[in-house]
Amino acid sequence: MVRFSVSATLALLATVVVATPIDPVNIWKRQSRGSLQQVSNYNNTGSANVPFYIYVPNKQVTSPGIVVAVHYCTGTAQAYFSGSPYRQLAEQYGFIVIYPSSPHSGTCWDVSSKATLTHNGGGDSNAIANMVKWTIGKYTADPEKVFVTGTSSGAMMTNVLAATYPDIFKAGTVYSGVPAGGFYSTSGGVAAWNSSSANGQINSTPAIWGGMVRSMYPGYEGERPKMQIYHGTADSTLRTQNYYETCKQWADVFGYDYNAPATKTSNSPLSGYTRTTWGDKLQGILANNVGHSVPIQGNEDMKFFGFV
Ligand SMILES: *[C@@H]1O[C@H](CO)[C@@H](O)[C@H](O)[C@H]1NC(C)=O
Ligand SMILES: *[C@@H]1O[C@H](CO)[C@@H](O)[C@H](O)[C@H]1NC(C)=O
Repeated sequence: MVRFSVSATLALLATVVVATPIDPVNIWKRQSRGSLQQVSNYNNTGSANVPFYIYVPNKQVTSPGIVVAVHYCTGTAQAYFSGSPYRQLAEQYGFIVIYPSSPHSGTCWDVSSKATLTHNGGGDSNAIANMVKWTIGKYTADPEKVFVTGTSSGAMMTNVLAATYPDIFKAGTVYSGVPAGGFYSTSGGVAAWNSSSANGQINSTPAIWGGMVRSMYPGYEGERPKMQIYHGTADSTLRTQNYYETCKQWADVFGYDYNAPATKTSNSPLSGYTRTTWGDKLQGILANNVGHSVPIQGNEDMKFFGFV
């Protein structure tokens, strides 16, 4: 009796095992959906050791897009995950969010070293580019839908990523940063502060700023990400001059005449904000009386990235 019962149970188990084969990859994917997870096994060869966090939404779409969301100084991946709208938007539109976390003291990003300001030069920008490559491979994400956004130091990194990896990113939105190269450190500092830029003392030409972008990936002739630049007129941390310098930079890169934008719209997207459009590839949004930093306009980002 006992013998029969045991073998019957074993037979039953065998049937169950055959009926539902274990797929470790899918189990891992299911478990990692809908919460912030750290990824430790991405390619860090030759680049900075930047902690990589990812949010894969419960909503599953074929070939999802990717938004890289880059935090501010003193911030972390976790803080930006809780404090920005991308997690909710990811659930709504089904894209994956990458939250890199700065490894530097004070958690500013390295936007000052030659390494980070060079395509495949190592440094934080290279590490973040490698996170994107890992995610595209793991989730068969759509390489045509890879975007970057960030606040303050993360906004600086957004400009740097757009300049150093134009082959990866299709669009960027910049919340209160400085131009790519604006925090360059002549003494080779990593994650160094640049007071001249921060204090708005640099007033350069579009050609010089555009040249800086081109020098970060010499010989690159392909498409570049379209850019949307936000800044407040009452920013005392990164002075408003950085808004104008950043717009000059991308206007030159795209061949727009900085001094002759196509349109200027008041109270867009919010009351007191002025939207200046140079063309399909560049918009500036200046927020009157807003300090450091301009609040994230998640729905505007979705439109700019083409999710809406
Ligand atoms: C890893 O990253 C380094 C530097 O970014 C790159 O040279 C190398 O080809 C990458 N390796 C793989 C397997 O992708
Ligand atoms: C700050 O950045 C500007 C713009 O790239 C550069 O000209 C200047 O030399 C930098 N300052 C320092 C101290 O590195």
